[in-house]
Amino acid sequence: MCGIIGIVSREEDVVPRVVDGLKRLEYRGYDSVGVAVVSAGSLVVRKSAGKLADVVRKAGISRLSGGICIGHTRWATHGPPIDVNAHPHVDCSGSIAVVHNGVIRNFSSLREQLESRGHTIRSDTDTELIAHLLEEGLREGLSPLGSMARALSMVTGSYAIAVLFSSDPGRIYFARMHSPLILGLGEGSNAVASDVTALLDVARRVVPLNDGELGWISATEVALYRLGGNGELVPISPAELASRIKVIEWTPESASKAGYPHFMIKEIYEQPQALLETYNGSVEDPSLARSARLLVDARRVYVVGAGTSYHAGLVFSYMAATLARVPVYPVIASEHPYMGNAIGEGDVVIAVSQSGETYDTLEAVRDYKKRGARVIGVINVVYSALDRESDISLYTRAGPEIGVAATKTFLSQVMLLELLATFMAEHSGALTGSEALEYRRKLGKAPRITQDSIAASDPVARFLGERGSYKSVYVLGRGLGSSIAKEASLKLKEIAYMHAEAYPAGESKHGPIALVEKGFPVFMVATSDSPHISGNAMEMSARGAEVVVTKPADLSLEIPRGIKVIDLPPSQGFLPYEPFILTPFYQLLSYYSAVAKGYDPDKPRNLAKTVTVE
Ligand code: AGP
Repeated sequence: MCGIIGIVSREEDVVPRVVDGLKRLEYRGYDSVGVAVVSAGSLVVRKSAGKLADVVRKAGISRLSGGICIGHTRWATHGPPIDVNAHPHVDCSGSIAVVHNGVIRNFSSLREQLESRGHTIRSDTDTELIAHLLEEGLREGLSPLGSMARALSMVTGSYAIAVLFSSDPGRIYFARMHSPLILGLGEGSNAVASDVTALLDVARRVVPLNDGELGWISATEVALYRLGGNGELVPISPAELASRIKVIEWTPESASKAGYPHFMIKEIYEQPQALLETYNGSVEDPSLARSARLLVDARRVYVVGAGTSYHAGLVFSYMAATLARVPVYPVIASEHPYMGNAIGEGDVVIAVSQSGETYDTLEAVRDYKKRGARVIGVINVVYSALDRESDISLYTRAGPEIGVAATKTFLSQVMLLELLATFMAEHSGALTGSEALEYRRKLGKAPRITQDSIAASDPVARFLGERGSYKSVYVLGRGLGSSIAKEASLKLKEIAYMHAEAYPAGESKHGPIALVEKGFPVFMVATSDSPHISGNAMEMSARGAEVVVTKPADLSLEIPRGIKVIDLPPSQGFLPYEPFILTPFYQLLSYYSAVAKGYDPDKPRNLAKTVTVE
């Protein structure tokens, strides 16, 4: 995810401290860097693609100085990581600079409106549109704060922004909606940043902002408001502001994990935010409808991926068949040659890869393209090899995933692919337009449901992880549950080094049940499309297995005594919610099991985050 920092001070020059703050934000992953200062009454912007140290030198940031400065590390979501797309972005007159973390959902329609009103949009980003909206507010005679209120009333989606107006050189303006933003209150200087990490050199007294809040900081003052439903500004009293001040004790190292002991647990807990960004960036993206038409009209459809991305592809294959009535052939990327001769003109391949650099997946894509197939990439890293080689790229917006285990990127892939399946169902006629819209509206609730699932799963996953010393484990599921079971078993293998084997529950009686003896641990992933999984649970339990059934709380199953049931948040019978309800438990079980054994969950043995070799 992008990183923001802004500092305003009575000191002469805050640029070095902004650069230090950007250094502390590097862990978030980025591809471009930029700063803006107000110097001698005019706005100066220096930015480019590249690593911080190079850009500071190459773009002349080290030669800038000023008492007020905003900076940004960009994790590309709209448009490739090239200089023009780096932040800060400015308006037509170059007198307003904006840095932004988040996704403006209505960016397509906004861009059309602004261009029709004569604005020259220079970049591919959604962020630049905010600068032009602010410009219009000033032109209408509004104050900078009034322009902020006007602009933010016109955008939907998520944002954390910091803004410099050359007409108001002593203040940094800011606003927050769904993307984290925090104020730092120092002595003779104040700051705003994406997270505490960047503030540690400026202030230890901080004020986390809430959604819908905006305001400004000067070197010695803070003004905070709530944005009302009609764009009105409701002041927040100094007393309320003072009551929200927190004192931070973190070290820079612990702060880069935002206080979590490992990146994996931080990224598990980041999933609601990652899902919200992915939802906001996809639900109105015309590329999804375009992809859906291509897929429904294709001769045949294949989904290719490796590891966790392959499991997301299995969920997609299930949803495409059941929701859109479109058969999709799942292909394990390294096994792609076997399908080669069947691939030809008119076929469409969905390639799923968070890194966009996995050798096996790229090889499959290149082979199938050569045979005439079109390729749709589902990618987390913009401008990766897969992004460049896809005919259409669909982006998850999980932000960089530092832990080797794919957690937030998996559920972000599931979010995007389930949205895609609803567009396919609309185009295939399996769903009416209003039914498909209702599905997408419901999917907008998945971030909250995931948050509830994490909260419900953590204590019991921690208890079992710290108590259990499972060597071998079955993870069984039916229907949609069998895909989730595969992802669950991969987590337990790669992070907790358990021999966890996933099987379709119905298949387990065709051989695998022979392994079961007294105390053999069997986890059942129960989903509402397969209530008869309770029979499989009983078969296992009758042979002495220690059976644990994980299920949505409102899924009623015939479960005999002696079998442990873990009720997770209800799905209200909406099956597309169930990957978000069931997956976090297994992510957390693998994490706590690993920690209990003294393993490093961020760097599991023998594994690399991205497998770029055959
Ligand atoms: C998942 O936890 C693993 N890190 C691994 O299986 C991973 O999903 C696989 O290597 C694919 O990576 P990609 O999504 O970057 O293509």
